[in-house]
Amino acid sequence: MRAIEITQAGGPEALQLRDRSEPKPAAGQIVIRVAYAGVNRPDALQRAGLYAPPKGASDIPGLEASGEVVAVGPGVSRWQKGDKVCALLPGGGYAEYAATHADHALPVPDGLPMREAACLPETCFTVWSNLFDRAQLTTGERLLVHGGSSGIGTTAIQMANAFGARIFVTAGSPEKCAACEKLGAERAIDYRTDDFVKLMRDEGGADVILDMVGGDYIPRNIKALNDDGRLVQIAFLQGPMAEINFAQIMLRRLTVTGSTLRPQSDLAKARIAQSLEVKVWPLITAGKLRPVIDSTFALADAANAHARMESSQHIGKIVLKVA
Ligand SMILES: NC(=O)c1ccc[n+]([C@@H]2O[C@H](COP(=O)([O-])OP(=O)(O)OC[C@H]3O[C@@H](n4cnc5c(N)ncnc54)[C@H](OP(=O)(O)O)[C@@H]3O)[C@@H](O)[C@H]2O)c1
Repeated sequence: MRAIEITQAGGPEALQLRDRSEPKPAAGQIVIRVAYAGVNRPDALQRAGLYAPPKGASDIPGLEASGEVVAVGPGVSRWQKGDKVCALLPGGGYAEYAATHADHALPVPDGLPMREAACLPETCFTVWSNLFDRAQLTTGERLLVHGGSSGIGTTAIQMANAFGARIFVTAGSPEKCAACEKLGAERAIDYRTDDFVKLMRDEGGADVILDMVGGDYIPRNIKALNDDGRLVQIAFLQGPMAEINFAQIMLRRLTVTGSTLRPQSDLAKARIAQSLEVKVWPLITAGKLRPVIDSTFALADAANAHARMESSQHIGKIVLKVA
């Protein structure tokens, strides 16, 4: 099969099209003929040598894909050949065929094109598990999402909106801010010109913050949180180190938490998939949540897809057309 290999740790040019053997389904797995594969920031980190795949995962990048089931491993009863699915992958999405745990696949929501379905798993699993499982975001609470125009951010805005939260975001340009407000954010803060702590305090403070930036945002997030607030860390684009006053956590009953999706157990990911199918898939079918797609590249053009992502000019998801 055709697949994108990371030929060496480095820039986007390290991504090269190669011939590889097709994966075979192990017990509990399915193999998908990939139609489209989503591109995510962790893929760029992996390519740069900063995010090694977990033990046993494919070295081919790609954490999500849509396509058709073409092979079913022993013990799999839910899926049959020909089923249309979108799936979270342990790796291997930038290829014509990809294997994954059967319980990490979900049906393509009714009426949703394959291109959009490929963009669902990584952001939906991440946003659901962090905002709703960990941070217990509830109706009427104020949510602040940093990186509001990112793949994760555009999903978080729509999902939180559908569950009745009030959404505030930060983003790096007026165009990105306008896109976030159009998607359902009550207010988008251009962090290059405005201080999000002051504006959030003026708005009544944040009950939950979803942060991918870190660095000096960490003490500023603590200031922006309300009593009983929850800070959820999903990445550290500006580094993981900060000096914070822990007395604030005690006195204002704050929770600081976070998670990464990829190293979690198969069972933990299967549980997230079950929640998504019950709680979020109906929202997609009802048209209340749709992936925002910035651009589509051919599989062979994966290097340019990564260059676009790392330019940070995109709004929403970047996707590879594989079939
Ligand atoms: N924990 C998990 O399980 C998990 C899972 C998936 C993704 N992630 C992380 O979540 C983040 C978003 O992922 P994604 O795939 O949605 O990526 P993405 O679309 O590339 O979004 C990243 C956004 O962050 C902003 N940004 C980039 N560098 C920045 C910096 N140095 N300081 C402040 N903002 C910066 C950019 O928007 P602006 O123009 O507004 O700055 C950019 O659009 C990534 O960091 C990724 O690693 C975590």
